[in-house]
Amino acid sequence: MSRDDRRLAPIGVFDSGLGGLTVLRAIRALLPHESFLYLGDTARVPYGNKSAATVVRYSLENAAFLMRHHVKAIVVACNTSSALALKDLTQAVAVPIIGMIAPGAARAVAMSRHQRIGIIGTTATIASRAYEHAIHALAPGTTVDSVACPLFVPLVEEGWLDTPATTMIAGQYLEALPSRDLDTLILGCTHYPLLQQVIHRILPRSLPLIDTGEAAAAELHQVLASADLLAPPATLARDRICVTDATPHLPRIAEQLFAAPLSPAEIVSVD
Ligand code: DGL
Repeated sequence: MSRDDRRLAPIGVFDSGLGGLTVLRAIRALLPHESFLYLGDTARVPYGNKSAATVVRYSLENAAFLMRHHVKAIVVACNTSSALALKDLTQAVAVPIIGMIAPGAARAVAMSRHQRIGIIGTTATIASRAYEHAIHALAPGTTVDSVACPLFVPLVEEGWLDTPATTMIAGQYLEALPSRDLDTLILGCTHYPLLQQVIHRILPRSLPLIDTGEAAAAELHQVLASADLLAPPATLARDRICVTDATPHLPRIAEQLFAAPLSPAEIVSVD
């Protein structure tokens, strides 16, 4: 493929389900001339309660699907895959790979005034301690408190973004955080920005919430620019949305995130 063709190639974005759409939104806002191929592995969501070996296998299959469609870069729009599979993914594919953990940790460290950072994420992400390691590599004295919120992903996939049950469950999880002492909270799962309203109702409004998708979008911009792979400004962007199983709530979640409707989702197989 010539360099001109590579610049016009889509960016691959994958998540276990619909949460990665929050990352797609952040990337589209920053890079409006880029085309995207989004893959939500809705047949196998959630990843956050699976073993590391399974998450690595699913992630490699998702990346192989995107590579078969000639993407120029891959955004791992899933913190769980980023925490457990980034090394394997980087070894397996020949295009730039952007994960969520390093950009999210760097943004939190930059925002934190008193080095008290909280993290919420899936069981697998929290157990991996990937954020903690990334934060301590940048700012060794930082106090890190983390809580796994395993029911958040099914609530989002079910479209329960702001219901009394969601608020009650969020309250129970978030009370385990020393929220008064924290000065920054990482939303360490790409589904969680969809629950921001509920989270803000429970935690102090003044607590900055880090959307890892926004941080990763900035990193992607930098990586594409330095590899001379940005699409030229006049390019007409095209998006393709693929899922591995039917997801009735996708249109409603997309409507909440995007001003214009997304193209209809195609059902694909990745394994
Ligand atoms: N959006 C994924 C993440 O960021 C959700 C993981 C899951 O499927 O449990 O971790």
